[in-house]
Amino acid sequence: MSAFSGRVPAFPKTADPGEMRIVLLGAPGSGKGTQAQRLRDEKGIPQVSSGDLLRDAVKRSTDLGKRAKTAMDAGELVSDEIVLGLIRERLSQPDAAAGFILDGYPRNVAQVAALDALLTELGQPIDAVVLMDVDPAMLVKRLTGRRSCPVCGKVFNVFSAPSANGDRCDAEVHAGSEAPLLVQRKDDREDVIENRLRVYERETRPLVDHYRDRGLLRVVGADGPVERVYAQFLRAAGGT
Ligand code: AP5
Repeated sequence: MSAFSGRVPAFPKTADPGEMRIVLLGAPGSGKGTQAQRLRDEKGIPQVSSGDLLRDAVKRSTDLGKRAKTAMDAGELVSDEIVLGLIRERLSQPDAAAGFILDGYPRNVAQVAALDALLTELGQPIDAVVLMDVDPAMLVKRLTGRRSCPVCGKVFNVFSAPSANGDRCDAEVHAGSEAPLLVQRKDDREDVIENRLRVYERETRPLVDHYRDRGLLRVVGADGPVERVYAQFLRAAGGT
């Protein structure tokens, strides 16, 4: 058990689950993407993942993607200015007007200030900051076992959540055609993972206290199976 595990305080239900505005905090491999995808699929709330936005820019070889790639491959943070540009653009899209799950942003103190300014401008205050709290000893195994679909983005794990379709994606969206082969992220190599965990402790962990002091923090014990974590997550986010 880690320092932040414990009961999830009930968070007041939002009138409309589609209006949740949530920030997800947690170490690499803590399950942020897995839980955000599930909430997105069940409640229709857009998942705004800074990592996915960056990986997409890298894949498309945009100027910004080229600038971000070196830092990402090394497990370092990409510059605040690049990430803010992507987040601003995504949160300004119509589907995010009624709610969003911010996954992977903010990640340092400067990004907290930038996000506050952006959300004030958009008139969209955060409802809750949910920390996915996982025993650090589990993280490396989760990350080295992760595979994902390069087309639909569905996340798997060779140890805990393998695809029903072997080394290909099993998502329904591919029914009727040959499903894509699953891929491993470049930064899920053990040496890069170690650096990502160091960067998390140095840059991102301090945000936990920051959001606790602001009365926004909800802690989810995320060591257990995905289903159990999801039930807690939903409660913390105000969706049940
Ligand atoms: P990003 O993509 O945000 O990566 P991360 O924060 O390191 O988080 P991960 O995606 O690795 O983990 P996750 O918590 O989403 O876990 P998941 O659900 O996939 O960032 C990548 C890079 O982009 C950064 O290093 C940086 O360079 C850059 N970047 C991104 N945002 C930035 C920012 N704001 N500023 C600057 N740079 C930025 O789960 C992991 C595995 O575990 C999966 O296989 C899953 O199936 C499995 N799993 C999940 N939950 C469970 C469970 N309960 N039990 C068993 N297995 C589980």
